[in-house]
Amino acid sequence: MLKNKSVLLGVTGGVAAYKTIDLTRRLTENGASVTVVMTDAAKNFVTPLSLEIASGNKVYTDLFGSPMAHIDLPARSDILVIAPATANIIAKIANGISDDLLSTCILSFRGKMIIAPSMNWRMYENPAVQNNLKTLMDRGVIRVGPEKGALACGEEGMGRMSDVRDIIRAIEFQFAEKDLLNERILVTAGPTREYLDPVRFLSNRSSGKMGYAIAEAALKRGAEVTLISGFSPLQRPGGIKFISADTSLDMFHAVLRELRLSTVLIMSAAVSDFMPAEKSDNKIGKSGEFLLRLKPAPDILSEIGRMEKRPFIIGFSAETGKKIGNAKKKLREKNMDMIVFNDITEEGSGFDTDTNKVVIIDKIKDTELPLLSKDEVADALLDRMAEIKA
Ligand code: C5P
Repeated sequence: MLKNKSVLLGVTGGVAAYKTIDLTRRLTENGASVTVVMTDAAKNFVTPLSLEIASGNKVYTDLFGSPMAHIDLPARSDILVIAPATANIIAKIANGISDDLLSTCILSFRGKMIIAPSMNWRMYENPAVQNNLKTLMDRGVIRVGPEKGALACGEEGMGRMSDVRDIIRAIEFQFAEKDLLNERILVTAGPTREYLDPVRFLSNRSSGKMGYAIAEAALKRGAEVTLISGFSPLQRPGGIKFISADTSLDMFHAVLRELRLSTVLIMSAAVSDFMPAEKSDNKIGKSGEFLLRLKPAPDILSEIGRMEKRPFIIGFSAETGKKIGNAKKKLREKNMDMIVFNDITEEGSGFDTDTNKVVIIDKIKDTELPLLSKDEVADALLDRMAEIKA
């Protein structure tokens, strides 16, 4: 994703500066070339040597050490990332102050700039900081965070630098081709819970990873995304409309509500096929043998597939074994446009893994993919969808 991209990383003097070693390492692993410019204050939190080792490149700190660095470094960089961005650097950027190497680089840089603010919550709330941030946003600077949470000073509040993962996502977002700008994609993810009583439910092993990866990939490619999710431990992706749905009925209603505006429905949720025939309002007591009667849960895809005016539909078919015929039957019977088959008994495929080995089946052909990360599977199925819809 970041192959051949040059990232100029400005590190300023916040306690979160230590996280830039991880940020640099991961950017490099993703193919980027990272050059770090540090302020003097940042050197109190992380050493230039650590960042030199992480980036494999010389680290710059002094405006006069390399006289043309403030012009040359920005000129050969594709993106400028300031992490952590202290109140001080934010104020300097807002006011065009250039009194050290980093602030001078910022003035001469012509591309996209991302900042990841980090400071105490009182400082963050200060109207001067808020005004400066607004000035930066108005100029098109992209901001990641800050988040609410435990701060280095021991207090809780808004001001924590965002996760390295979110900063990387914002960087990747800038470089992604926006080929889905005209799509409004509705994605379902995770398991449903079917309640026997207020305490107990039937569910399944779905983690939501595949659906969340699809939602993020679609967002990165410019689509407007709504994610309807069953219970999942995953962090909600930013920048999308997020709706929680607990049971298959909740999910059905949420899909119906959101469907009208959607051009594509991707049902990656593991919706239960059955639900208890009766739900007790009270906790069911212990009384020897207990017989549970089930009835079919609403089959969301079949209902949507039957609609006269329906979006492009992509479903999933998780099978135990190479039962690709089952997937093809579902494609026809549920009137989908595409179905993603995977054999959950295969190594690295299926529930709660970060990888998946799938066959994408549509009305024209079967596309068998190798073992890929769920992010790569997400992009592959969006690629095929875009191809068919074109
Ligand atoms: O028939 P099966 O449950 O294997 O079909 C899987 C596909 O149908 C998945 O895309 C799943 O999200 C969807 N589905 C549904 N409603 C159900 C069960 C499955 O929409 N009750």
